Amino acid sequence: MPKEGCPAMKKIAVLTSGGDAPGMNACIRAVVRTGTSSGIEVMGIMRGFQGMIDDEFIVLDSQAVSNIIQTGGTILKSARSEEFRTPQGRKKAFDNLKQHNIDGLVAIGGDGTFRGANAFISEYGFPIVAVPGTIDNDLYGTDFTIGYDTAINTAMSAIDNIKDTANAHNRVFFVEVMGRDSGFIALRSAIATGAEAVIIPETPTDIASLAQQLKDNYDRKKRASIIIVAEGDECGGAFKIAQKVKEHNPEFDTKVTVLGHIQRGGRPTCMDRVLASRLGMEAVRALLNGTSGVMIGQLHKKIAHTPLVKAIKHNVTVNPLLVEMVNILA
Ligand code: F6P
Repeated sequence: MPKEGCPAMKKIAVLTSGGDAPGMNACIRAVVRTGTSSGIEVMGIMRGFQGMIDDEFIVLDSQAVSNIIQTGGTILKSARSEEFRTPQGRKKAFDNLKQHNIDGLVAIGGDGTFRGANAFISEYGFPIVAVPGTIDNDLYGTDFTIGYDTAINTAMSAIDNIKDTANAHNRVFFVEVMGRDSGFIALRSAIATGAEAVIIPETPTDIASLAQQLKDNYDRKKRASIIIVAEGDECGGAFKIAQKVKEHNPEFDTKVTVLGHIQRGGRPTCMDRVLASRLGMEAVRALLNGTSGVMIGQLHKKIAHTPLVKAIKHNVTVNPLLVEMVNILA
């Protein structure tokens, strides 16, 4: 039942924006099927906010989302739209929503998506409910974002492989994982693979003491090491850090592997599929109930609504105990 004074919605739209994340398709499916089972029409907008500006709307019925729950990527495609940052771009987008008689929107994405959605709500009062979809897990208001679990499992499995060859050759490997501004992927994958060290933007990086720690290991005949580097660390990426460590320890046989976009693709894990389905379903229910301007997350196993402004402005901190764990268990 919509809140008092809210007209009932007849048609909603869904889009995916920013970096894609495994589980986005499961979320789209949940949005469409919750919508259709509530008796409303659902449209998909291709290429995120850019498709909203360029009038790329498609009809999504229940059948259109069959057989996608297990697939990575996003059937709606994704983009980072510069034009949507301008009032002129947002005006075109609004006109297209009106032309298609869209009453509300579910936006699946990360921080950039939420900023765009928030600007749009402020200007046009258009109802939008957001769902956290990013492998980075860097959003306030949810324990996990859609795609994070799959990404850390992908990273873990790749690092396991690297560990075999690192041991075989007594090499010091610097493995760079994604995380533009955050070290969540780095931290979890470091714990899960028993890495010797983790380098993340949330904690200061001391190259000299890292080099010394690895030298101590080396002198104790522990010749193979894995150091996980978050791409967003203030000292630069894995190549720069490996070079600096090598300057301290020229005897090391150092190697660098950048995992890159393999972390963004692949079949979503069970956890991501279930999370995406749950958040997508709740997003539609919230929208139909007259809610707008919130991100639907999951905190301590319960659904949580966080105002978009809060989700955007808050920094998400890593648990210092997990950082300590890497060092103690290494
Ligand atoms: O935000 C998700 C993310 O994968 C970051 O970890 C990474 O820095 C960025 O997207 C890469 O973006 P793009 O694919 O546009 O280069």
